[in-house]
Amino acid sequence: MTDQALVDLAFQMLERSYAPYSQFPVGAALLCADGAVFTGCNVENAAYGSTICAERTALVKAVSEGRRSGFARLAVVGRGEDYCWPCGACRQMLYEFAPDLTVLVARGDRQFVKLPLKELLPHGFGPASLT
Ligand code: THU
Repeated sequence: MTDQALVDLAFQMLERSYAPYSQFPVGAALLCADGAVFTGCNVENAAYGSTICAERTALVKAVSEGRRSGFARLAVVGRGEDYCWPCGACRQMLYEFAPDLTVLVARGDRQFVKLPLKELLPHGFGPASLT
């Protein structure tokens, strides 16, 4: 799947976002090496801290379907003027399963940038750090 197709899928997920409190929909699409894709959106809650981000929705869907490795690329998109940078919690969660992930980050005009997760989370703390 091309980068553009993955970003387009993430944009489609904006329609499923549940963001009545922030009014800031986010969409995500996580591509596996075998071509499988897990999509996600942010799902907010009246108890604000219970909100789950789009990237973590996609990741948790994948892990709960039995995937723990082989993640290749993740697209994360929003409608804002700035790129929809993944939050710290999402960077950390992604690092656990996919330290070598490539991340595509888009903004509302559909421009996107591509960078390694390791650039977003340098010196990350992962499973190997516990040995
Ligand atoms: N959000 C995400 O879905 N992903 C991120 O990485 C950053 C923030 C969501 C959470 C909340 O629903 C809204 O954006 C505003 O913070």
